[in-house]
Amino acid sequence: MTANSYNLTDREFKEIRDLFFSLSGVLLADSKRSLMAGRLAKILRELNFETYQQYVEYVRVDPTGLEKQRLVDTLTTNETYFFREEGHFELLRKELIPEIKGRNRPPVSVWSAACSTGPEPYSVAMELANILGYSGWQVTGSDISQKTVKQAASGMYPLEMVERIPENYRKRYCLKGVRSQEGKFIIKTELRQNCRFFTWNLMNRPAGFGPFDIIFLRNMLIYFNATEKETIIRNIVSALRPDGFLIVGHSEALNFAQSYLIKVRPTVYQPMETGFSKAG
Ligand SMILES: C[S@@+](CC[C@H](N)C(=O)[O-])C[C@H]1O[C@@H](n2cnc3c(N)ncnc32)[C@H](O)[C@@H]1O
Repeated sequence: MTANSYNLTDREFKEIRDLFFSLSGVLLADSKRSLMAGRLAKILRELNFETYQQYVEYVRVDPTGLEKQRLVDTLTTNETYFFREEGHFELLRKELIPEIKGRNRPPVSVWSAACSTGPEPYSVAMELANILGYSGWQVTGSDISQKTVKQAASGMYPLEMVERIPENYRKRYCLKGVRSQEGKFIIKTELRQNCRFFTWNLMNRPAGFGPFDIIFLRNMLIYFNATEKETIIRNIVSALRPDGFLIVGHSEALNFAQSYLIKVRPTVYQPMETGFSKAG
């Protein structure tokens, strides 16, 4: 059977969309229907199912939870690259890291809260190492997709991806693969040992980690509706230091959170002092 020979009915699309929403908080638009059909067809073939209905029932009752995780891994959009939205890294380098360093409260802690396969947390790690060396800082990366978190933890990428890393950082913090690792590069151990990764659904309130000096939450909120956005931001803010910084993507304004977050730069926010709101 080819991928296209499966027919995703309206009812099946809605069932899978609702199941994915209950697992991730992401509500897939109708326009994602062929994407859903195509990505899941591979799994149907592997499991020898003939319809999406059989598949969704199987996911629902799977006692291990592994098929639910695989559904999340398959339907999330994980596009990312090193030094994406370069202005944020310049801001880290020139202002935020020096300011937090000056607070004398090591380690400087940064959370990349929807880290995908890891280029964002490692780009942050390079900026931290550039200023602080290999100690006195920690980067945490998490994502709802276990598959991407695994790749992030490995720190290994196809060689094409190295090109976005500034040359001086490339030389200092990356190693090119040889022999069986030809065509790949790896982030140096000295950097990786200050980075930790785990699977986390941001619809849940952070428990057992934080508070952070800086949280990156970029190119993730765009996939959510208003109610879920609000839940995620409240969860994120609960893990941010009162004088910490929250950085979102350039297309993600947090106007809905203006009673508890102050915009200090475009796309950069700080918690409002408890008990006060913006005057004027
Ligand atoms: C487009 S990537 C952005 C990666 C990176 N922040 C960047 O800007 O390059 C969005 C990520 O959000 C993750 N995501 C989606 N829903 C999530 C949730 N409920 N909790 C945590 N991560 C989620 C996806 O798995 C995906 O890896």
